[in-house]
Formats: sequence, C-alpha cells, structure tokens
Amino acid sequence: MVKLNDNFFKLKESYLFSTTARKIREYSAAFPDKPVIRMGIGDVTIPLIPEVADAIAEAGKGMATKEGFHGYGDEQGAAFLQDAIAAYYLRKDGVALKRQEIFISDGAKSDVANFTDLFSDDNVIVIPDPVYPVYLDSNMMLGRKIVFIDGNRENGFLPMPYEGLEGDIVYLCSPNNPTGAVYNREQLKTWVDFANKNGMIILFDAAYECFIGDETLPHSIFEIEGARKCAVEFCSLSKTAGFTGTRCGYTIVPEELVIDGHSLNKMWLRRQTTKYNGTSYVVQKGAEVVFTEKGMAECMKNIAYYKENAKIMAKTLDELGIWYSGGVNSPYIWFECGMDSWQFFDMLLNEIQVAGTPGSGFGKCGEGYFRLTAFNTHENTLEAMKRFKKLLAK
Ligand code: MLT
Repeated sequence: MVKLNDNFFKLKESYLFSTTARKIREYSAAFPDKPVIRMGIGDVTIPLIPEVADAIAEAGKGMATKEGFHGYGDEQGAAFLQDAIAAYYLRKDGVALKRQEIFISDGAKSDVANFTDLFSDDNVIVIPDPVYPVYLDSNMMLGRKIVFIDGNRENGFLPMPYEGLEGDIVYLCSPNNPTGAVYNREQLKTWVDFANKNGMIILFDAAYECFIGDETLPHSIFEIEGARKCAVEFCSLSKTAGFTGTRCGYTIVPEELVIDGHSLNKMWLRRQTTKYNGTSYVVQKGAEVVFTEKGMAECMKNIAYYKENAKIMAKTLDELGIWYSGGVNSPYIWFECGMDSWQFFDMLLNEIQVAGTPGSGFGKCGEGYFRLTAFNTHENTLEAMKRFKKLLAK
C-alpha cells in the first residue's frame, strides 16, 4: 500500500500566489469589463533587453547547425556563464569567486528549496516571519522543526539573532521579500558571526540585490568577512534581467563551507548531477550577456523604471500617512493596511480592481500588512494609486 508524505496535509491548501491568481482569475471571469491592475506577484512586465534576445536567438539558430549544436552541457553550468558571473561579483562588490563555486540553475526558487536535500531532517530551521513562502513550505514538506524569528515595525522587519536562538539553518533574504527591508553591513556581520559561533548555516537569498541603490548596503553576503565559512548565496535573473519566463539563476557554494569534514560544494554538485540536467544552453547564452558591463547597464535602466513606480507608491502612502517599509532599495512596498490582510485584498480587487498580496500570506507577522509590487507600467501604477487614494480617503 502506498504511503503518502502526510506533511503535505499540514500545508495551506494552495501556494500563496496560486490562491491570489485564482481569485484574480475568478474576478476577471465574472467582470470581464473591469480589467485588473496586477501588482501582486513580482512578475516583470518589461521585455528582455534586445542584446539578450539576440544572443538567445543566435544560440537557438545555431542549434540547427552542425557547428552550433549543443547536447548535454557541463553539469554545473557553462564555464562562459560562471566566468561572467564571477567577473560581475568582482566588479560590483569586490567579491572573488572561483568558477567551481558557482552553480547555474533554472532560478532561485528551486535552489532554495532543493538545497536542504543536503541536510538531515532533524535540523532546526530558523525562518523569519514574514517571509517568502517557499522557505517554509519546502521545509514543512519534509516535516522539519521550524523556529520563527519575528519581523515587525519595531525591528524594521529585519529580525536579528539573539542569545539562546535555537537553530541549525537560517534563511535570510535581503532586500527582503515581502517587506523590502535591507540588512546593513553591521547587521549581516552580526548574523555571520552568530552563525560561525554556533555552527549554523545561512541560506542567503539575494534575488533582489540589483534594486539596492544605497551603496553602503551589501549586495552579497560574501562582502561580509567570515561568510565563506557559513553561507550559501542564491540569486536569480528573474528580477535583474526580466527572466521570470526565461528561467535562469545561480547558487554560490564556497569551498570553505565544510561540515564534519564534508564539503557542501561537493555535496551540492553530487545532488545536482543526480537530479538536475542543467539549464538550457540557449538560455545560458542569453544570461551571459546580462553580466557584461553593457548588458547590466541596460538591465539597470529597466530596474530604474520599476524603482520610479516604487516612488509613486511611496508618495501616495506618504500622502495618506500610512506606515510602510521598502520601495527604495526594493521593488516591493509593504504597508500597514489597517484590517485583515485578505479582507484588504478583496476590497482592493472588488472596489478598485487592483491586485496585491496579503501580508498574512507571508506569515503571522504579516497580518494587518499588504504588499504591492513596482513591476507594472508607470501608467498602471499611477492609475492604481489614484484609485487607491480615492478609496482610502473615504
Ligand atoms: C513574489 O512575488 O514574491 C515572487 O515573484 C515570487 C517568486 O519569485 O517566486
């Protein structure tokens, strides 16, 4: 008789963004004449930069030729892309990485969830609340013990370690999804020192690093001394270069990361070579262009466009006297909505046809908060904020 993994039955019935998507779909089917402005899931709207699209097209055409055809690629990713990422880290943050420390994947979501294959199920997982739901759900699926550290207005939604914090693995996301808050160097150094002292591993999600404009803030955990001994970094091209539909990300596992004499880098290689057959060659050729100076400069223009939207939202919240975080070094703005988060979601959808994400979907500390994204167009963002202001002024 087949036995199911009954940890699945402890999860919420559906993934947060599947629930919000269903509600939007149902509303749109019932009211086709009332188009919804989508500021919920962090999906980009600006197309790929032409240089990336050209590289993908050229690689795709090449696949139909004897010279340009590629079968299975190098398992850890193409050397040309690993080297382009290493050069980007050195140029941007002064962080030196070895080619073999960089693993190319189809995005950060799969890697943050899969990386815990390396750890036994009796580890205690420390998860900030509110947080990107994948960290929690993927560990709940394995029945792991979870300890939450609360984010709130008092700590600026940047929970810190404290004496007596019990845990083996901690997830940090900075700039944070959903709150847009960013750890500064001192705060990350405190986490790194705590992890090294207590034999903890930090799983650092840097998916939004490109939105940091304040250059005193760290983009990578490896800018912090001691991090190579305790941290793994995940990043993605989804928000950096508009790859949400193209799919490409990478994970950095330093060679110094050794537990009980076992290299996590070697273990991750073993895991990936068994369970993953590599990111498409064609996509990797597009990704390579992102990390050139010219490609990154073009991508940053798109990011500046989104950040303009964040400013529009921040201005509206300022005018309404609503407390918020994020929206400066992040595409997300997180604010107090003054009621149950799901009720607020329904109200925005039904009354002004604006879709966001309820804060409580990210954890209990998100109750009473709401997240909007800056990934729509200027026109839609302005229109949404006009309606928002009118509604809340009532
Ligand atoms: C979000 O809206 O939180 C993100 O787009 C989800 C993701 O990156 O998977």
